[in-house]
Amino acid sequence: MTPSSPDTAPTRRPLVSGNWKMHHDHIEALHTVRDLGLRLKPEDIAQVDVTLHPPFTDLRTVQTLLEGESIPVALGAQHCNDHDRGAYTGEVSPQMLARLGVRYVLVGHSERRQHFAMSDDLVAATLRAVLRHEMTPVLCVGETEEERAAGLTEERLSSQLDAALRGLDPSQVAGMVVAYEPIWAIGTGRAATSVDAEDACLFVRETLRALAGPEAAQSVRVQYGGSVNPENAADLMAEPDVDGLLVGGASLDAATFLEIVRASRPAGPRRRG
Ligand code: PGA
Repeated sequence: MTPSSPDTAPTRRPLVSGNWKMHHDHIEALHTVRDLGLRLKPEDIAQVDVTLHPPFTDLRTVQTLLEGESIPVALGAQHCNDHDRGAYTGEVSPQMLARLGVRYVLVGHSERRQHFAMSDDLVAATLRAVLRHEMTPVLCVGETEEERAAGLTEERLSSQLDAALRGLDPSQVAGMVVAYEPIWAIGTGRAATSVDAEDACLFVRETLRALAGPEAAQSVRVQYGGSVNPENAADLMAEPDVDGLLVGGASLDAATFLEIVRASRPAGPRRRG
């Protein structure tokens, strides 16, 4: 693959997302978001989009705070059901999220696939449900340690992307986010190297090109996730096909998360590492 030349350099706006998983009750959420709001400076978000994905029970609190204090962070959720309403005890519908001002929804996070038996079919249905309510899906894909060792990373990524996206209109794909999250890197402190992250994100983009055409592939933001921290963020973001970061553990503390946001600001032409 040829490195991006300056005149064809991607113009995708970086997207840094904090996935709190099952951490922070609504009181802790209030303190964390207030802290983030006090620290955030206009220049931090002048060239970077930021989203937070708290647990469901925090959403209303976080929404009120973001809106009331004009904190320039978009509200995200970690999952939703694929139906709009019905007898699905314990579930939350995409319609409910949209009404709360949620703009981004993680779809098919590996922890949902692994612990809650979320199949490729359910991922595809959930992704369509999110689109139906005009929110942005953040489709999560990634290989296990065994798949990587067996040289099956690309096969895994293409089958997950194909199962989730086949049949969608290219204009729907164009507005999406894909998060490449190698499972072996999640919560292990063992992030992918920036070169490995770039190779996988570039492969994701090539697969998107085959599925939805060159224009959609060029505009999709591809995030890297897995043990991102303030030390490795800038190197990862320097890669031309890494358009953002999906941050778990390091997003729980406002100051640490903000360091990652700051490290993600574009620093001149992006290079291939
Ligand atoms: P981590 O999680 O940053 O704690 O590795 C990333 C994720 O699962 O989204």
